[in-house]
Amino acid sequence: MWWDKNMLSKVVNMFMLWLLFSSWVFSLVSATVSYDSKAIIINGRRRILLSGSIHYPRSTPQMWPDLIAKAKEGGLDVIQTYVFWNGHEPSPGNYYFEDRYDLVRFIKLVQQAGLYVHLRIGPYICAEWNFGGFPVWLKYVPGIAFRTDNEPFKAAMQKFTEKIVSMMKAEKLFETQGGPIIMSQIENEFGPVEWEIGDPGKAYTKWAAQMAVGLDTGVPWIMCKQDDAPDPVINTCNGFYCENFSPNAKYKPKMWTENWTGWYTEFGGAVPTRPAEDIAFSVARFIQNGGSFVNYYMYHGGTNFGRTASGLFIATSYDYDAPIDEYGLPREPKWGHLRDLHRAIKLSEPALVSADPTVTSLGSNQEGHVFKSKSGACAAFLANYDTKYSVKVTFGSAHYELPSWSITILPDCKTAVFNTARLGAQSSEKKMVLANTAFSWQSYNEESPSADDQDVTVHDRLWEQIYITRDATDYLCYMTDVQIDPDEGFLRSGQDPLLTIWSAGHALHVFINGQLSGTVYGGLENPKLTFSNNVKLRAGINKVTLLSVAVGLSNVGTHFETWNVGVLGPVTLKGLNEGTRDLSKQKWSYKIGLKGEALKLHTDAGSSSVEWVEGSQLVKKQPMTWYKTTFDAPGGNEPLGLDMSSMGKGQVWINGQSIGRHWPGYIAHGNCDACDYSGTYSDQKCRTNCGQPSQRWYHVPRSWLKPSGNFLVVFEEWGGDPNGIALAKRTTRSVCADIFEGQPTMKKRGMLIAGRISSPKAHLWCPPGQKISKINFASYGMPEGSCGNFREGSCHANKSYDAFQKNCIGKQSCSVTVAPEVFGGDPCPGSRKKVSVEAACK
Ligand code: GAL
Repeated sequence: MWWDKNMLSKVVNMFMLWLLFSSWVFSLVSATVSYDSKAIIINGRRRILLSGSIHYPRSTPQMWPDLIAKAKEGGLDVIQTYVFWNGHEPSPGNYYFEDRYDLVRFIKLVQQAGLYVHLRIGPYICAEWNFGGFPVWLKYVPGIAFRTDNEPFKAAMQKFTEKIVSMMKAEKLFETQGGPIIMSQIENEFGPVEWEIGDPGKAYTKWAAQMAVGLDTGVPWIMCKQDDAPDPVINTCNGFYCENFSPNAKYKPKMWTENWTGWYTEFGGAVPTRPAEDIAFSVARFIQNGGSFVNYYMYHGGTNFGRTASGLFIATSYDYDAPIDEYGLPREPKWGHLRDLHRAIKLSEPALVSADPTVTSLGSNQEGHVFKSKSGACAAFLANYDTKYSVKVTFGSAHYELPSWSITILPDCKTAVFNTARLGAQSSEKKMVLANTAFSWQSYNEESPSADDQDVTVHDRLWEQIYITRDATDYLCYMTDVQIDPDEGFLRSGQDPLLTIWSAGHALHVFINGQLSGTVYGGLENPKLTFSNNVKLRAGINKVTLLSVAVGLSNVGTHFETWNVGVLGPVTLKGLNEGTRDLSKQKWSYKIGLKGEALKLHTDAGSSSVEWVEGSQLVKKQPMTWYKTTFDAPGGNEPLGLDMSSMGKGQVWINGQSIGRHWPGYIAHGNCDACDYSGTYSDQKCRTNCGQPSQRWYHVPRSWLKPSGNFLVVFEEWGGDPNGIALAKRTTRSVCADIFEGQPTMKKRGMLIAGRISSPKAHLWCPPGQKISKINFASYGMPEGSCGNFREGSCHANKSYDAFQKNCIGKQSCSVTVAPEVFGGDPCPGSRKKVSVEAACK
């Protein structure tokens, strides 16, 4: 043989290389995203896709890599984001794609992490974002009507959509170009609006779909909540549950674009939370009913920095009770529980994408959903819909205990690896640890505006606020003179006249001759407000100054672009000799914004243009006051939050950047009853914080700080004591595990474990740099409560603490098997037991 061995191996190697190269070329050329009735198909493979919303302007570019990494670790395949038109095109044709609005950078980071992107271009996005994402200038385009068959609107929408698509193409970001974008979205939940407005709405839907498809992105388009989405656009579901949704054609997959992981906080509202068990249940229920794409809205909610929050009294925090909290930390047990769910779903993927489920009854309120592929893969979901009772069912030749309102996943039709109501994941309690409390403040009183100021305009009647301000500021001053005759009866009787002001919202401070006479504000249910107070007037000219304050523009509702803000009147004065005087039609002077805003007092340079006072002269509890101080950044790398609970309402800036509106003076109302995961969730369930400020803590991104000399400015409208403001680090106070005996469990990397019932383990781990310093609580038996407030129940093993003390103290992480012998024997034979443990991290 003239071929020697070496030669042979060289040829084999070359052949292998060629194979590799050609399959790489082939995969580049043939990168495709399509769909069928089962799933989205990426490069020829049907996929069960788990996705999470992270909105790039709601965090900082410095936070993005970590957020994306945590999403990946949490088991996501896709990051979903809206595109924020008003951030990208602040004035017509003037585009901005820098810093928090660097969309391309965000998408490339997702790509580098090996995840896909679902790009919801909108450009209407809702999202509790100012004006639903529309730039304010759009409202003033002649002849425009939003989101209907209106030429000026369609032209503007098309122009922006094309701009984004061509940017993505130029950067090769669509999957068909080798990029991460596997899907896009046009419009957002237009179905309900179309239903209201009828034919023009129908025509607009058709146009929007055609326009989008015509842009030839190579990847599918979706329209959410749009039953009549025209082919090939896929209609998808949004909601807390979507198991009963079906798309409008047999050949489209069943997709869920918004599974709300909590809900938004509004100023004045209690803070919503959604139990991890219920979210997991909703996802498992959707998948067992044939769903193949689930997106968590939000996976990281983040912060409405600056004035980006919408006018529905949306708070600055957009935490949303999401799996990653506002500060970028995993929210436990939610994040870990969903990660475990994702592993169980992925183990079942081969069967899930291959067949429709066969549904069998396992009891009066229990079902089994079984997926079997021709090649022998089998996955089963066993569901108990009962909201009260745990039930033992028989499936195959085995018995399975199903807690109430739960689904157990068996990726091989035998082994229970996950139950939606059994938290295998650790919980953790966060706390804010004070870092800087002794700020030395200086104050400056906002100068009262006067009708003689240079930048004042005069009109003969009351004007709508946004028409005048174009939303460049929250503030508009309405000023007028009220002439009081010396003969007025009230000057002698002492019966002050009644001033009544009707305003479309959102807040109003009324000053009479420079003195604050009262403050009123609306709320989410009714943004309108009425001021009605007896006011002190004197003979001669009285200066009436109405400071109307917007808290953003509405983001939702049919033709929300027509909704008004500000003092529209009437404004009346009752109790004069003439009876009631209507002030609405007299001359009003208008001043846009605060003097301090014009002087840029929130910047270091701007602040030096006025005289500040300090020490004993520091102004406290007075309305319309500016405060400034400098401080050093706290050490470490924990996220930071500013405690604003001693203040009323206004805005905060750090080093010239706005961290948002503060409004701790708005106390949360609502119902904060105990929260049970079981039963249908609504955003009114499981609220917290009643009777407290809706938002006390304000996120200060680390990357906005320098080591020393940070410049902090607060503008306070109502009056507050700045000495109560403190900067704190968000740290883990304690970690908990709450594990039932015999509960389904999985090995770390998602492998099936042999045998159905094995002894699960209680795992505890502190964040890097911290160690377990103390076991605060441990009980094997029937303990009650949840992380942070566990208590012993009717059954408790006396040696509950021992194993944890021995295995965990001084370690960053530890695990203890949940079995009677570990805790010195069974304290109550025959009862179903669990371990609840809480450990302090230091
Ligand atoms: C949806 C909407 C989202 C967001 C959500 C509530 O209906 O599509 O953009 O507003 O409600 O957080």
